[in-house]
Amino acid sequence: MPEAGVHLGSGKVRELYALDEARLLLTASDRISTFDVILPTEIPDKGRVLTGLSAFWFARTSDLVPNHLLALRDDGRTLECRRLVMLPIEVVVRGYLAGSGWKDYLATGAVCGHALPAGLRESDRLPQPLLTPATKAESGHDENIAAATAARLVGDGLYGEVERVALALYRFAAAHAEARGIILADTKFELGLDSEGTLVLGDEALTPDSSRFWPALGFAPGGPQPSYDKQYVRDYCESLGWDKTDPGPEIPAGVVAGTRARYIEAFELLTGIAFADYLADPQVVLR
Ligand SMILES: Nc1ncnc2c1ncn2[C@@H]1O[C@H](COP(=O)(O)OP(=O)(O)OP(=O)(O)O)[C@@H](O)[C@H]1O
Ligand SMILES: [Mg+2]
Repeated sequence: MPEAGVHLGSGKVRELYALDEARLLLTASDRISTFDVILPTEIPDKGRVLTGLSAFWFARTSDLVPNHLLALRDDGRTLECRRLVMLPIEVVVRGYLAGSGWKDYLATGAVCGHALPAGLRESDRLPQPLLTPATKAESGHDENIAAATAARLVGDGLYGEVERVALALYRFAAAHAEARGIILADTKFELGLDSEGTLVLGDEALTPDSSRFWPALGFAPGGPQPSYDKQYVRDYCESLGWDKTDPGPEIPAGVVAGTRARYIEAFELLTGIAFADYLADPQVVLR
């Protein structure tokens, strides 16, 4: 029997357990949240997709930055990881103009204070990847903050390191994805410090919940792109005229199946591993 540990708390998607002073279990449920509201309907195997993909990337990026992964459990949804003191910020790296970055650009001609050329279209590739920090809200929506504010929150030296590491991770993953026909439009990282004060990548990484992945085939800037994330469920929720407050709507079986298929497709395209093979032996993503 694997050890279980003391329940520390629940995120929107993950359950956290303490194994001991130094180690945590992070179990990804099949919960899905849209507009920061957890929906009453689950997406079967979604937690396994997120965990398998995170472990896949952790195994391939440890030369860029150390990460919290210690072991992947055979349930395919639980990571044993090093317990970190998480930074009070999260960082988004944007290679393309989408989401809140696009809204910001429309309003100000810049993205979180990074000036950009005029005339860019929605979904356009940016001249270079940009880092946009945000506060980690205890509840509710994360808020974008200026780089100077983020640097003040974590310290100048450490913020510089966060910037360097996040851009390197983005560049590595974007190149990997591009070779497999996927555009990594943007992605969010959460980092923390270990007991020695070393910067370590934590949480999930480069999954459809933390990233916008677009099929490269048919990429057409000038509007939103179809994506492998929860956009499909968001569109369904919005079509109901839901006011985006708790409780969220039940999701019908057809939309559940369509969402599950998109998560699994992203897993298979990015890893080159059949999802059935992952279910049979999760360790395949680490090799
Ligand atoms: N190695 C680690 N040590 C300590 N805390 C961690 C570590 N890795 C991740 N965490 C924290 O565990 C939690 C993960 O749970 P989850 O992803 O469900 O939270 P959430 O951020 O509320 O949800 P969402 O991702 O939908 O915003 C986050 O608060 C994250 O910062
Ligand atoms: Mg999270």
